[in-house]
Parts: sequence; structure tokens; C-alpha cells
Amino acid sequence: MANPRKHMVNNQVISNAAKVIQKGGVVAFPTETVYGLGADAFNPMAVARIFEIKERPAFDPLIVHIAEADGLGLLAEIENKELVDKLIEKFWPGPLTIVLPKKSSVPDIVTSGLSTVAVRMPDHLVALELIRESGTPIAAPSANKFGMLSPTLASHVGKQLPHVDFIIDGGKTTVGIESTVITLSGNGFKLLRPGVITVADLEEVLPEIHNMRENRLQSPGQLKSHYSPRIPVYIQGESAIKGDLGNAGYLALSPLQNTGEYQLSLSLSTGNDLREAAVNLFSALHQLEESGVKFIVVEPVPETGIGMAIMDRLRKAAYQYK
Ligand code: TXA
Ligand code: MG
Repeated sequence: MANPRKHMVNNQVISNAAKVIQKGGVVAFPTETVYGLGADAFNPMAVARIFEIKERPAFDPLIVHIAEADGLGLLAEIENKELVDKLIEKFWPGPLTIVLPKKSSVPDIVTSGLSTVAVRMPDHLVALELIRESGTPIAAPSANKFGMLSPTLASHVGKQLPHVDFIIDGGKTTVGIESTVITLSGNGFKLLRPGVITVADLEEVLPEIHNMRENRLQSPGQLKSHYSPRIPVYIQGESAIKGDLGNAGYLALSPLQNTGEYQLSLSLSTGNDLREAAVNLFSALHQLEESGVKFIVVEPVPETGIGMAIMDRLRKAAYQYK
């Protein structure tokens, strides 16, 4: 469902932001997942500024956002049209990114020189109107410094990226973690990044799953360390916790019980709800980062369905502190 919060952003703001995009500027905007840092996907100089502002390595390609399914044909070669149409029908607009062979007109800087392009249609009226008014697909990574926490509020963007040309404040994002990324092959798919659209959801449309457990890096974004707060993160039961819990923050999936030994404890869900936990994950990590605690201990969540995407983000945040 499209985000009803659109009324929080007036049309003048969107049209001003669209003018910034058309002039080659960079705009932070809300999507249903996280805030994106967008530029005209067909303007290589504008896209270069995204990499500069984010301090993102040039090897990590961007997702191109479109507002109409027809726009896909401008960007990608569609080999298995029947399958792609089924995916679009079921999941767009929504948090699914599809990697397809790219059209030569897509600038190499967008795809980091790969022969494929990642495309999605966000389920957020502000994002969709911004794309429409700009009159061009918008290339956008998450609007954070490379490797750091993703933004689910406009204030998170301002904190990490003070030099963005324009920030559209659309309130808190409603999904909270980045889109599921897949690549197609034959009648099936490979999962490049888990998200709230789960493997089980995809299997309803795509009968074959390929090499899910393959270790080779298939997407430059499959880095082991990512999504990190500025302070260490330890996963309970997986990492050796170093430090005094009295200076630590605690992050739990479930309502809190007996966490008095920590300086600050937060719960991601009022009722063990993984979807609610995903919505609150990054904002809780931002809150802990800002609170002055020295490190964060997180309670692992069951790795089923959306839990797979949550644990993917947490393991990457904790990787360097194992
Ligand atoms: O929900 C989202 O996807 C958000 C919002 C703003 O749309 N965007 C986002 O972008 O998370 P970013 O740049 O933070 O993550 C994009 C991911 C990276 O892991 C990148 O490596 C992968 O998509 N990717 C992009 N193009 C690719 C390609 N051609 N082949 C394989 N992976 C690709
Ligand atoms: Mg990102």
C-alpha cells in the first residue's frame, strides 16, 4: 500500500526538489524502506556527487528508482518478460530490487561498470511523485555515509550528510530496512540481499532458487561489514562482549525484562513482531549511538522470514567486533 504520510510533504516541496534533480543536484528523499540519496540516473556528473557525498567506493553500484513499470524498458534488457511481469505485478511498488542486464544508455558510473542494473519502484507517494516530476529515473543508494547506519528519519540524513542539496522530510519510513535484492536466472533467482520480501514470498512467483548459500561475492554490496553504528555492536551468544555492561546499550526484539544492568535498553517490538522490529531497527541503533553508551549488545532474532534480513544487518554491524 502506498504511504498515506504523503500529506506531510506539500507539492511545492516536491517540485522544488525535482528542480534540484533536473539541474544535476542531489536530493535526500523518503522511500518506504530507508531514505535515499538521489540524482538523475542519466546524469553521470550528478551521480558522481552521490559517491562523493556518501564517500562510497566506486565499485558499489546504485539502485535506479522508477515510478512507472514502463520505465524498466529504458534501463534494462528484459529476457524473461513473463517472469518479470509477474514480479512487478506482485511486488511493485514495493521493497524488491531486481538486477537485470543493463541498456547501454545507463551510465557506467551508476552500475560501477557492471553489465547489469538494479531497479526498483518504491512504495512511497513522495518518492513516486519526485521521480515523476523530475521526469527521469533516480539513482539512489541509502542516504548514509558508506558503511554506517541507514537513515529512517530525515534527521538521520542531516546528521551524517550535511552537504546534501535538498532533504525532503517525509517522517519515519514504514518498512525500516532496505529492499530485498535479487538477480534472475532461468526460472529462478539468487538472493543478493535479504529484506522484508522474503524467500518464501519470492518462491510463490519464482519456482527455482539458485546458489543461495554460495560464498562468492555476487553483489558488491554483500560486504561482511556494513550498517555500523560508530560504537561496537555485539550479538548475544555470538560475540565475546568486551566492556562494562553499565556503560552499554541493550537492544531486544521482545519487550524488555530484567535489563537493569545496562545503561539504556530498547525494545524493537511490543509483541515479538519481526515486521515491527524491522521498522524500528535503524532508528533504535541511531538512538543508542546518540545516547552516549560505549557499546551495544543485541539480542538475536529468529532467522526465519524477515528475521533473516534483520540478522543480516546486525551481523554486518557486529562483524568487526567479533
Ligand atoms: O531499499 C533500498 O534498496 C534503498 C532505498 C533508498 O531504495 N536503497 C539502498 O541502496 O539500499 P544501497 O545503495 O544502499 O544498496 C544497494 C544494493 C547494494 O548492496 C549494491 O551492491 C546492490 O544493491 N546492487 C546495486 N546494483 C547492483 C548490480 N548491478 N548487481 C548486483 N548488486 C547490485
Ligand atoms: Mg546502503
